[in-house]
Amino acid sequence: MVLSEIANIFPTLEEVLKSCGMPLPIEQREYLINGVIHRWEGETQEVFSPVCIKDNDRCERVRIGSFPLMTEKEAISALDAAVAAYDNGRGLWPTMAISDRIKHVQQFASRMKEQRTEVVRLIMWEIGKNIKDAEKEFDRTVDYIADTVDALKELDRVSSRFVIEQGIIGQIRRAPLGVTLCMGPYNYPLNETFTTLIPALIMGNTAILKPPRHGVLLLSPMIEAFRSSFPPGVVNILFGSGRSLTPPLMTSGRIDSLAFIGTSKAANALLKEHPKPYRLRSILGLEAKNPAIVLSDADLNLSVEECIAGSLTFNGQRCTAIKIIFVHESIVSDFIALFINAIKCLKIGMPWELGVMLTPLPEQDKPGYLTGLVEDAKKLGAEVMNVGGGVVNGSFFYPALVYPVNEQMRLYREEQFGPVIPIIPFAEIGTPIRYIEESDFGQQVSIFGRDPQLLAGMIDPLVNQVSRVNVNCQCQRGPDNFPFTGRKDSAVGTLSVSDALRAFSIRALVAAKDVDLNKSIISDIVREHRSNFLSTDFIL
Ligand code: G3H
Repeated sequence: MVLSEIANIFPTLEEVLKSCGMPLPIEQREYLINGVIHRWEGETQEVFSPVCIKDNDRCERVRIGSFPLMTEKEAISALDAAVAAYDNGRGLWPTMAISDRIKHVQQFASRMKEQRTEVVRLIMWEIGKNIKDAEKEFDRTVDYIADTVDALKELDRVSSRFVIEQGIIGQIRRAPLGVTLCMGPYNYPLNETFTTLIPALIMGNTAILKPPRHGVLLLSPMIEAFRSSFPPGVVNILFGSGRSLTPPLMTSGRIDSLAFIGTSKAANALLKEHPKPYRLRSILGLEAKNPAIVLSDADLNLSVEECIAGSLTFNGQRCTAIKIIFVHESIVSDFIALFINAIKCLKIGMPWELGVMLTPLPEQDKPGYLTGLVEDAKKLGAEVMNVGGGVVNGSFFYPALVYPVNEQMRLYREEQFGPVIPIIPFAEIGTPIRYIEESDFGQQVSIFGRDPQLLAGMIDPLVNQVSRVNVNCQCQRGPDNFPFTGRKDSAVGTLSVSDALRAFSIRALVAAKDVDLNKSIISDIVREHRSNFLSTDFIL
């Protein structure tokens, strides 16, 4: 049954037309630099959807459009525009009253909301995310913008007062850093890009945005919203390969903060290119190999349910996904039996079909890579436990539960970022703890159990190894007001709604001796509203 479903997963043209309609290809040619939407006439990159169309025996990825492959010249124009708009902190945007910057961001959010249907449709077609998760990504991003505005108002209220300490009067606020280069990942091309871009902008930075390799076209319905909502040069959008566009930006030394979500290898290369790396503020979301540890007294149904969501939501393509599962040897057979059953119940299909969880993968070489991981584990003694596990049909890879995994196998360390679930049996709790200690990654862990004594004994060492210990639930980023970060090779900087505002700003203060002359100067500036910084006004 599973095998025939996998073999027939892709629709015919007629079926697509009947269910959701074929996407009109988007030949993206417009790009935004210095407040002007330019038209690209140079080389382009074609975009193919992970969705294939079946035609007799053949299945082919649908071509959904193309985007510009810009060059160093456009990269430098975008940089010049962002640098000029910042103007050493004297530009309109960095000196603007916070309440006015908020209005620009709110204007953008309301224009963005008008594009919901189109952006969600593009998320489905470009990266294969199912409709429920694509809608969630959009709505969560809009909510994040509203929460960011609230957090900034709160921050501003706290900063709208003077502090008098040891005979010095001071006003301390947060000031922008300069030009931000923003690069999000393909798995959350909208959310993870905007959760750095929006805080950077609202704090008064100017920005250059470069979308990831997959998830590019979904920006096109929002380019006009960016143009009309922000002053020229505040947001600049580049399309093309990171390899051509980022070296000129980074080597210029004129990027002040880097918001990058991707691999540590790419992050390292970017950082090395900056001539004065100490000047660069880095906010990085990198790899992770989050383990789940299922203890002998765990609620098995709950653990399986959470590990399924943790390892297979968006086909395991989340940095927070559970990517390896340690199960106590006394319950491992029951756990595997329940897990296999749960996989069987997951609906496979096209992203727009309601209730579908497992969908095709956007990266062309991913099914081959995942097959390589499974074959390597099999050669070293593991088995694929579920029927159909690891079967590939074009861009679709059916989840493979691989057991027993050991440290000789690539799956033990490599971040699969896809639907392969390695399971390791353990007798002593020291086994998974040692795995975490020796790992290069340190984002999160999930532990499943009931004994408070045992759980507490794990929590204390684990919080010093990872940044979030989840008890009886999957690993995840949300709620967005919680800090999202990681240790070791997993992250640099912390992103929550309020932390992100801090990440893209620096504290700056105005200080003066508490003497009559200074008091009268400060009073005059404040009373006459002569400064946006030195002010006791606050936004309600
Ligand atoms: O890919 C990393 C994402 O930030 C994970 O977010 O845990 O809400 O899916 P999520």
